[in-house]
Amino acid sequence: TKGVAIFVSGGGSNMRALVADMVEDHPARPAVVLSNNADAGGIAWARAQGIPTEVVDHRPYGADRPAFEAALNAALAPHAPDIICLAGFMRILTAGFIDGWAGRMLNIHPSLLPKYKGLHTHARVLEAQDAQHGCTVHEVTAALDNGPMLGQAVLKVAPDDTPDSLAARVLTLEHRLYPAVLRRFAAGDRTPVLLHA
Ligand code: GAR
Repeated sequence: TKGVAIFVSGGGSNMRALVADMVEDHPARPAVVLSNNADAGGIAWARAQGIPTEVVDHRPYGADRPAFEAALNAALAPHAPDIICLAGFMRILTAGFIDGWAGRMLNIHPSLLPKYKGLHTHARVLEAQDAQHGCTVHEVTAALDNGPMLGQAVLKVAPDDTPDSLAARVLTLEHRLYPAVLRRFAAGDRTPVLLHA
């Protein structure tokens, strides 16, 4: 099986969905959960599950992203992961790190890419009065939120949706989409997964 490193910065609900799916009959297993934030809820949960964890605080590195990324790779090394899944990891990675993991790193983003790269996606969807919204899993390349698409899940925006309601509804879809994509990807299949709410 392929070892998966899951990177989280916050609550880690996508990480939990990925771990929950990696049980029997799965081509991958959780190798390590890594965070830039020692207080991330995801770290405590992973530790309680007996999954190895690593914390690499970005703050001591200041603007020196390559040094931070060298520390990330050093923390990963003993776990020898085959795949990295970014799951709410809120640090931008440089081309230097990304190129070292080319074809082996996935990200989930809360919009229907290529629309709404970056932050505040739910508010931007409402502002634009889009009829549809959702989430995307893509391969990570050096251009932010721009790598080959590996899956999308779509929902209809309701007239009474708020940024918070959309965030919650999209997150529920994320928990279905990301495990489905990882299952395929770890088996060497890059056919996009398409889901509807
Ligand atoms: C998710 O909605 C994820 O798509 C988003 O952060 C949330 C993390 O939730 N990621 C980004 O915005 C990446 N730029 P989680 O910690 O509960 O999985």
